[in-house]
Amino acid sequence: MTQVTVPYCIEAKKEGKKLTMLTAYDYPIAKLLDEAGIDILLVGDSLGMVIQGNPDTLSVTVDQMIYHTRLVARGVKRALVIADMPFMSFQVSAVDAVKNAGRLIKEGKASAVKLEGGREVSAQVRSIVNAGIPVMGHLGLTPQSVNKFGGYKVQAKSEYGVKQIIADARSLEKAGAFSIVLEGIPPEAARRVTESIEIPTIGIGAGVNCDGQVLVTYDMLGFSDFAPKFVKRYFNIKEFVTKAVKAYSEEVIQGKFPTEEYSYNIEIEDREEPDVFEKTQEFKRNVDEEEFDTLF
Ligand code: KIV
Repeated sequence: MTQVTVPYCIEAKKEGKKLTMLTAYDYPIAKLLDEAGIDILLVGDSLGMVIQGNPDTLSVTVDQMIYHTRLVARGVKRALVIADMPFMSFQVSAVDAVKNAGRLIKEGKASAVKLEGGREVSAQVRSIVNAGIPVMGHLGLTPQSVNKFGGYKVQAKSEYGVKQIIADARSLEKAGAFSIVLEGIPPEAARRVTESIEIPTIGIGAGVNCDGQVLVTYDMLGFSDFAPKFVKRYFNIKEFVTKAVKAYSEEVIQGKFPTEEYSYNIEIEDREEPDVFEKTQEFKRNVDEEEFDTLF
């Protein structure tokens, strides 16, 4: 089993091998995805929307990211675990950025962090990398800037926009980032960015020209009705869960579950031996009430 590491990702681009990435926020899903052979598990701040039900990712905290990253890291043997740096955990200063990235590694057990932004956060990227923490960048439709964009809108639609993203990507690469997520940009823009840097690009809603792809696992498995253009549904889990839950409810209501197969059909013994609870009660009866309380 080849462990996925930062050098592995960089080598993959050189060899023309595509990288696969999915989001995970808990132990069972992380274990499933890892065992299925996914290269990178991203503990995305998308958990603010997917898990917490918020309209955006802006309220996610570092502590919440640490909690979910720990759950994911516990379920993984092969994949590279990357933790997202939430809104305002890196924008204010390089000192903040290094401290918070450090917590995601030390307490969350991630192997790398991801943060949104280009030239404006390159100093933070450099400082985090200098602390020995690998950084994945994130450009294009960066969800933490939803208020600046006025919604979740496709970016880099003009020549100027493409040039800006290329300049941002080069700046992140120079600052030491090992990879960059490209989100919500046209495939041609993604191709030009991908060809302008040596580190791998991972696309989401950015077409096929990236060095790898990422999707939100809950979207691609069909947990909800949320279906933007770039999400391919590989499964309709909602349909299966609904069917299973309805069958369970009907059987409970009709007294058909649990049958003998799912019951402990043990003959009740006429035991002389009192159980632990009875023993405790008996003991309690034999000592003074106040004395009993001091014993435990
Ligand atoms: O938070 C997230 O899940 C992400 C991916 C969609 C790239 O940033």
